[in-house]
Formats: sequence, C-alpha cells, structure tokens
Amino acid sequence: MSTSSQLHVAIVMDGNGRWAVERGLPRIAGHRQGAQAVHDIVAAAPGLGVTALTIFAFSTENWKRPPDEVSYILQLFVSMVTKWLPELISQHVRVRIIGDRAALPGDVSASVEAIEKRTAFCDGLHLNVALNYGGRAEILLAAKTFAAECAAGTAAPEDLTEDRFDSYLWLRGEVPPDIVVRTGAESRVSNFLLWEMAYAELFFLDVLWPDFTPATLDMIVHKFKSRNRRFGGS
Ligand code: FPP
Repeated sequence: MSTSSQLHVAIVMDGNGRWAVERGLPRIAGHRQGAQAVHDIVAAAPGLGVTALTIFAFSTENWKRPPDEVSYILQLFVSMVTKWLPELISQHVRVRIIGDRAALPGDVSASVEAIEKRTAFCDGLHLNVALNYGGRAEILLAAKTFAAECAAGTAAPEDLTEDRFDSYLWLRGEVPPDIVVRTGAESRVSNFLLWEMAYAELFFLDVLWPDFTPATLDMIVHKFKSRNRRFGGS
C-alpha cells in the first residue's frame, strides 16, 4: 500500500488504432498521436500529485500484430523517449523499463539501457514503461527465481512472503498502483500488473488513448480521492 504522499497511476493505453481509423489514417498515426499523449501526461503528472506512472506500451501478445506495426511501435518508443531525454531529465523523471527485455531487438534493448542509465539519478516522477510485458510472465519469472534459490539451498519455501515475492518482480521497489486506468472502451485488465493491482481502484474509460489529456488524468485523480479504500477491512 502506498503512503498518502505517494500516488501510483498505471495505464493500459488502448484505442490508438481506432483513433486513426476514425480519421481515415493508417493505424501507426494513432500510435504517433498516442506517444504525444504520453508526453503530455508525463509532463502534467507530478503537478497532479502523481509520483509513479506505469504505462503499457507493448505486451507479450502484441508480437501477433503485423511485423511493420510491431517494429513501428518499438522504434517509436525508442525515438520519442530518446528525443525527450533532455526534457525528462530537466523534469527529474526516472525512466525504467519493465518486461522481458531479452526478447527485444538488439538496438531497442541497447536504447532501453541507455535511457535508464541517463535518468537513473533522477528523483522525481517514476516513469515505468512496460515493454514486452505480461503479468503472468512476470509472476512466473518471480516463482522460477525463488524456486531456483530453493534448489540452490539459499532459500526455503517457508521464507517466501509477499514482500520477498515483490522483490523478484520487474516492478520491484515501486509502491503498488493505486489507480489502474484502461482507455479505449474495453473493461479488461489484459495481463497488466496482475500481482501489483490487487487493491488498485479501476477506471475504464470510453476515451481513446490519443484523446486522453492531463484534464482526463486530473478528473481520475479527483474521483480516486473521493473513493473509500478499505483494503479488505470494513
Ligand atoms: C493499443 O492501441 C496501443 C498499443 C498497443 C501501443 C501503445 C503505444 C504507444 C502509445 C506509443 C508508445 C510510445 C511511448 C513514447 C511510450 P491499439 O492499437 O490496440 O488500438 P485499437 O484497440 O483501437 O486497435
């Protein structure tokens, strides 16, 4: 559970393709506009009290898309974040990538490392970008890591606690999300942060991701503050 001074918002950014098709544009135009929405949300988030932002940019299932679209999304991420780096650093944004980076193309994984390295000292907003991420894959990896420690004799099954399990996750060290938003008029969590979202407040919006603005985030944060979170208590 995060403290009252921390606010972690996680977002499934859906609807880029439909945004483009509605305008008679190729789907990639929707991704490009979606990246602009990311830029604006990152800039606005700290002013709205958001201390961590985790966004779903590419899922383990997204490899099923046409190769051109896959390659466009990955390159778009790298080129945009690389272009924004001076601005991100001046805003004190620390960027971290969560997901299976071993399966990313070599140039993407090298850029990811460079982006993380250049923002590692930033002490402002935590921007976590889920890239080749799947919630089940993350849980499986944690289970395998702990099992390997048990097999090596450095841990025993009874040592496993929720905190220790957290420490094997890609999102380790981050408070769990307080808010999970999905845009694009779908009411699914789509394999996103399955372990971490246990007590998150969920918001499903009809807005397509490229139309999501800082005002939309402001509205969500206000609604969140009016919700009564009981964490299983009465
Ligand atoms: C889902 O919309 C969106 C994605 C799979 C890609 C999200 C990527 C970005 C917003 C750009 C990432 C860039 C940065 C800088 C983080 P969809 O294509 O599934 O939309 P649809 O449901 O309307 O088809």
